[in-house]
Amino acid sequence: MVRLGVNIDHVATLRNARGTPYPDVVEAAAAAEAGGADGITAHLREDRRHMRDDDMRLLRRAVKTRLNMEMAIAPDVMAVALEIVPDEVCLVPERRQELTTEGGLDAAGQSAAVADAVAALSAKGVDVSLFIDPDARQVEAAAAAGAPTVEFHTGAYANASGAAAREELDRLFAAAALAKSLGLRTNAGHGLSYANVAPVLAMPGLDTLNIGHSIVARAVFAGLEAAVREMRAAIARR
Ligand code: PXP
Repeated sequence: MVRLGVNIDHVATLRNARGTPYPDVVEAAAAAEAGGADGITAHLREDRRHMRDDDMRLLRRAVKTRLNMEMAIAPDVMAVALEIVPDEVCLVPERRQELTTEGGLDAAGQSAAVADAVAALSAKGVDVSLFIDPDARQVEAAAAAGAPTVEFHTGAYANASGAAAREELDRLFAAAALAKSLGLRTNAGHGLSYANVAPVLAMPGLDTLNIGHSIVARAVFAGLEAAVREMRAAIARR
């Protein structure tokens, strides 16, 4: 069965919006695991807009499944990764102004930096993946950099519809077939939702889907009624 990594970044986004201690990211990880997550994914961005260094340290201790840390190749973030030693690290590109990770890593264009990061993390026993677009050149560069795993960016598929979505799916499947033939483990994620996830499951060799925003968004409505009921009960006590 395809495994599910749950990205809980946006629990931290909600916390940071008010500077409150809640919602607690460790509690979110435990709830995701109770719901059947095979792993917890958290992105320590260079601007720390959601996860913070201490969140990563706490998650490292609390996560019972596998902790997958998403990160750019930046010295201060790399230092946190080498300190906490997550089970997995997914190397992603980052641009400060972007709302989310908008494209894949240019593994082919930055091969030396990527290979160095892969080597440093692998030496600690971390399973390193490269978040790349479904492009043969990038798959080959990932294999050449020594990464055991790739994660295909599904954003273009998620943003397309009709024939264009089918074309994006074909690109993903062709890239995944190449990754499989090169002995790479294949993950995928970004923009996946309850409505668009099913066709992705046919991706050759697919190991794990990393999904965040749609799950945290769904949690609002899956939990709002109970949350109001709890506040009603708190008010009814006086
Ligand atoms: N995989 C990677 C590498 C990502 O950067 C993200 C977003 O942080 C995701 C998966 C999850 O994307 P989404 O929140 O759109 O489900």
